[in-house]
Amino acid sequence: MKKITIAIDGYSSTGKSTIAKKLAKSLGYIYVDSGAMYRGVTYFAMQQGYIKDGVLDAKALLKSLDQIDLQFKFVAGLPDAAMFLNGENIEAPIRTLAVSQQVSPVAAIPEVREKLVALQQAMGVQKGVVMDGRDIGTVVFPEAELKLYLTASADTRAHRRYKELIDKGDKVDFDAVLKNVQERDYIDSHRATSPLKKAEGAIEIDNSDMGLEEQFERILSHANALIERS
Ligand code: DC
Repeated sequence: MKKITIAIDGYSSTGKSTIAKKLAKSLGYIYVDSGAMYRGVTYFAMQQGYIKDGVLDAKALLKSLDQIDLQFKFVAGLPDAAMFLNGENIEAPIRTLAVSQQVSPVAAIPEVREKLVALQQAMGVQKGVVMDGRDIGTVVFPEAELKLYLTASADTRAHRRYKELIDKGDKVDFDAVLKNVQERDYIDSHRATSPLKKAEGAIEIDNSDMGLEEQFERILSHANALIERS
């Protein structure tokens, strides 16, 4: 049976990665979290001092772009691959609110997108990949057999994100998380290069009031029908 490509796009905290990981596991496909790569570049910029008091020195970052080596690697004892930057496991720091607050301007830089899109396309050459992000169905894999566009209200998403951060021990307040969700929604869908939008042919699912299992079963049946046909 042939393998297909599954592209999942949507705003932050729409549950894309949970669904994507579950789908990949059930189909025996590779899961790629493209947001982790944008977070990785942002973390690099912060480490190098290219982001000071919330202001990004885009020129300095662009000059150093070829010093950034991003790789997904499995770590013993963990079910999902972790993001490595120049050999360092950066999975924990890239998930903090501090990185979330800086990532959208970095992700809006065309040269950053060009570099990461090329890496993402290379990871999907053999198909059998589930990738989530903002431009996967529109730019990275416009030919993907299955495209999904997940949505949920900003309040629902901020509650999910807040719980995730608190569970990890990140001391944040809910209003800061909601503000960050709303700001990223705006920047991610209004930037000039590859703004978040529903890809042509994508199936839209609003999961504000939908459980994980119901969503998963719906999506898996779409995927299986496409795999049988391919
Ligand atoms: O999915 P996430 O919240 O981890 O993504 C972090 C940021 O990266 C998000 O605010 C927008 C950006 N991003 C992007 O521009 N394109 C992608 N394909 C994935 C993420």
